[in-house]
Amino acid sequence: MLDKSRYQALVDPIERASRDEIAGLQTERLKWTLRHAYDNVPAYRAKFDAAGVHPDDFRRPEDLARFPFTTKADLRDNYPFGMFAVPEDKVARIHASSGTTGKPTVVGYTLNDIETWSGLVARSIRASGGRPGMKIHVAYGYGLFTGGLGAHYGAEKLGCTVIPISGGMTERQVQLIRDFKPDIIMVTPSYMLAILDEFRRIGADPRDCSLDIGIFGAEPWTNAMRAEIEDAFAMDAVDIYGLSEVMGPGVANECVETKDGLHIWEDHFYPEVIDPATGAVLPDGEKGELVFTSLTKEAMPIIRYRTRDLTRLLPGTARSMRRMEKITGRSDDMMIIRGVNVFPSQIEEKILTIPELSAHYVVVLTRADRLDEMTVQVEARADTVGSAEREQAGRRLCQAIKDTIGVSSTVAVVAPGTLERSLGKAQRVLDQRPKA
Ligand code: DLL
Repeated sequence: MLDKSRYQALVDPIERASRDEIAGLQTERLKWTLRHAYDNVPAYRAKFDAAGVHPDDFRRPEDLARFPFTTKADLRDNYPFGMFAVPEDKVARIHASSGTTGKPTVVGYTLNDIETWSGLVARSIRASGGRPGMKIHVAYGYGLFTGGLGAHYGAEKLGCTVIPISGGMTERQVQLIRDFKPDIIMVTPSYMLAILDEFRRIGADPRDCSLDIGIFGAEPWTNAMRAEIEDAFAMDAVDIYGLSEVMGPGVANECVETKDGLHIWEDHFYPEVIDPATGAVLPDGEKGELVFTSLTKEAMPIIRYRTRDLTRLLPGTARSMRRMEKITGRSDDMMIIRGVNVFPSQIEEKILTIPELSAHYVVVLTRADRLDEMTVQVEARADTVGSAEREQAGRRLCQAIKDTIGVSSTVAVVAPGTLERSLGKAQRVLDQRPKA
């Protein structure tokens, strides 16, 4: 692991600015953004007018609560380029997220936006312990997904050497890690587990590889998963957060010296946490749905975007910018099983307390006789061979879920390598219940 005394060096002055200075900057930038959106995006003008608010009504950050929310539906309704605030010939790049249904969500960037984004990913990599001159293996997918190119430009901006491998071809990933000796890997945590399996399959000790830092995000992952990966690779595992509608990776990032939640880069994004049912803004410290307003984006300013991600805002620690707690789930990932709210992350935490079980799992929901059934399929670790041991581990997981989450489940401990591996974001829940 790295020498932690080096981490506090080399931060942007704004990362350590006073709260007053940050609030002043946010106020100015919010004014500009509201005006820019109103003047240049008919969809925002219509929404503001319908809500009876005007950019001139904004004086301080609290006033933002009077402005309407933006949702994924707004982006879909204005497909493909209706949310852009600049002429199309000023758009330097387009990304899109495929989504599970309907049209993709399209986002655009000016050259200035790309420059800002790269700077924030560079800042995120630095907060993770990265330094100029290090080699970075980027295994987030390249293409319309923001992960690959977002990481790539940030790594270059910081002065690192980028290995743009993208996702997939796990054997080759491992070969190149062993041959090129990168210091850092950027990848989804679930795909990191597939890479770990491949190390073990070929009999190579992952602790001997060159990787010192993993920058993991694009999907929820628990502190139990962090411990698992850190131990397996003898590395620091740090959380990176972002979403395409707001920018891409690098909206918030953990600092490696504290690993206590993700600092939101508040000079470019204004966060709020709301009650998802009423839309009311909650005080810092209370859990709810995260909402973001961009502060500097030119091509696609975004006003009060409802992320569906659940977290709470906490005061700054390693930086003066506020933190968001590690995301425990999305409101649309929440399973309601016989009336109990359950998140895949709660199941993951329980799985990782049982040494015979690996972190490869999927939760299958079915309905028989009008009752919801939850089956957790989880792979045994390669070294736990006996079927009696597997059955016993399954019983323990079932009991732990019952005791702590409060729902009965069926646990199927399956052989290593049987569950489908994701190359990017893992799909943790298979909901096979009939649609209402
Ligand atoms: O996943 C951007 C990204 C790429 C972030 C690489 C980090 C690393 P989208 O495809 O638009 O963008 O998906 C955004 O992914 O609303 C969250 O639900 C989830 N997500 C992203 N990062 C994290 C994280 C990218 N660190 C959606 N923890 C978000 C939990 C995350 N969930």
